[in-house]
Amino acid sequence: MKKRNIISIIVIGVSLMFSCSKPIVMGGYEVVPLPQEISLDQGEGFVIDPEVKIVYSEKSVAMKTNAWHLAALLKQATGNTLEITEDSETGKGIYLELDTTISSPEGYRIVTDREKVQVQASSAAGIFYGIQTLYKALPVFDKDKEQAAWPAGKILDSPRFSYRGVMLDVGRHYFPVDYLKQFMDMLALHHINTFHWHLTEDQGWRIEIKKYPELTKIGSKRKETLVDWQTKEMDGLPYEGYYTQEEIREVVAYAAERFITVIPEIDLPGHMTAALASYPHLGCTGGPYEVATTFGVFSEVLCAGNEQTLQFVKDVLTEVMDLFPSIYIHIGGDECPKERWKMCPKCQAMIRKQGILPMPGRTAENQLQTWFMTQVESFIREHGRRMIGWDEVLEGGMPPDATIMSWRGIEGGIEAAKKKHHVIMTPINYLYFSNPRILKLQGLETVKRVYQFDPVPDVLSTDEQQYILGAQASIWTEWIKDTSRLEYVTLPRLAAAAEIFWTSLRQKEVNYFLERLSRMLNIYTQRGYEYRQDTYEPYPQSEKVLY
Ligand code: ACM
Ligand code: ZN
Repeated sequence: MKKRNIISIIVIGVSLMFSCSKPIVMGGYEVVPLPQEISLDQGEGFVIDPEVKIVYSEKSVAMKTNAWHLAALLKQATGNTLEITEDSETGKGIYLELDTTISSPEGYRIVTDREKVQVQASSAAGIFYGIQTLYKALPVFDKDKEQAAWPAGKILDSPRFSYRGVMLDVGRHYFPVDYLKQFMDMLALHHINTFHWHLTEDQGWRIEIKKYPELTKIGSKRKETLVDWQTKEMDGLPYEGYYTQEEIREVVAYAAERFITVIPEIDLPGHMTAALASYPHLGCTGGPYEVATTFGVFSEVLCAGNEQTLQFVKDVLTEVMDLFPSIYIHIGGDECPKERWKMCPKCQAMIRKQGILPMPGRTAENQLQTWFMTQVESFIREHGRRMIGWDEVLEGGMPPDATIMSWRGIEGGIEAAKKKHHVIMTPINYLYFSNPRILKLQGLETVKRVYQFDPVPDVLSTDEQQYILGAQASIWTEWIKDTSRLEYVTLPRLAAAAEIFWTSLRQKEVNYFLERLSRMLNIYTQRGYEYRQDTYEPYPQSEKVLY
């Protein structure tokens, strides 16, 4: 019998079984993202009664934390406080077991019968994704009157991509540490394993750098903020915020417990107005500069011909690398106008010193940017890390080891993959959750738009396709001032992104995804997320434009 048919017979619905007098409600494993293989059997399934124990087999902090996570999720969903134990002779329980025969580093297996749920993986990360799947596989039920159960059977799962990211811009608007932790939990629910933290912008420098205190003293504050693009109305309200190094470590540690790597971005040499306002000698003209209060692409950028600028960048990155253990460090490279460099004696002198000559399709200033980024890239590499840059870094030739984040479309990613550079796809027209044009989409279109994107372009050969590490949803916050708006643009689009990042292409089917999405929306409601409510409403709706 076809898998889907078996599942539809068994899944969700009040079972006639009774235990402890409370009726049992059966869940189902057809969650988001969809596991690779679901095979159910005719057994009774596993009832989550208050006597169930959570057993972890490995004496590692990560496995203990996993057990704690599962207990916390089940407490929230069922109301039961389940005992956590290392005793494998426990009897009825949920067993978290490391099993090195599972080849995918983030994959897992779940085997369920009446007495046991075994969650098995070769790494603690795999166990964590198994736990997330079990949580999402719970039924919708009334915990006061009913008991939840998981169907008997076996799940085999592993991700399609090793990089499954979400970027948040905290430069335009600042989000406090406590909220970022909740945001990490939201990412974990979607099997996201990378948080790209965009920490510096024209409108605010948000990371404490001990060697350059003015960056936060001056650069983290702006006079006011643009509120309307068309009328140019300003709000007249001072705005500020930054993360201390201690807070950064707290976020990194919280994310790590959820198997999320935090990649910091220091966006350079453009988008640096806040740094220039703090240290004006780093610009071509010497200023004065002001932290930006409006949005866009600004002509004031770091002076690439000034030796002190490179030293500044190296000093900042030294502290950044100390705070963030990630292999990747993002150094931006996007939207850097070259008009100042064309007029700057120092920049022009550096062009001559480096023997840079204009080439067809590559101005001397574009190549100066590549030279600058290459200096930074070597510095990062000497420290055992690797650089990521936005796709503009292709324009002057590429730093040797750069991983390219393709945002202006997929073309930059294609070019980079053909040149054997690693690629992360985050094209503006599918995966920018804050793109005002796309935000005009309503109803099902909002999630369908994301779901239809495939991170691996057909034009790449099988060899070239290996360079696509994965994809990322990116959230810019010019028009996102608070957490409620952030959640509105993120959810439920993130569910569609999660599925294209995790689930295999052969299982991709939009209507089936939309069926499963409704269970995810229930979880959003339970957790109090302020997600878009119009997902299943017909489209087009009113002409109201929300951005
Ligand atoms: C970007 O959206 N400027 C990377
Ligand atoms: Zn200059």
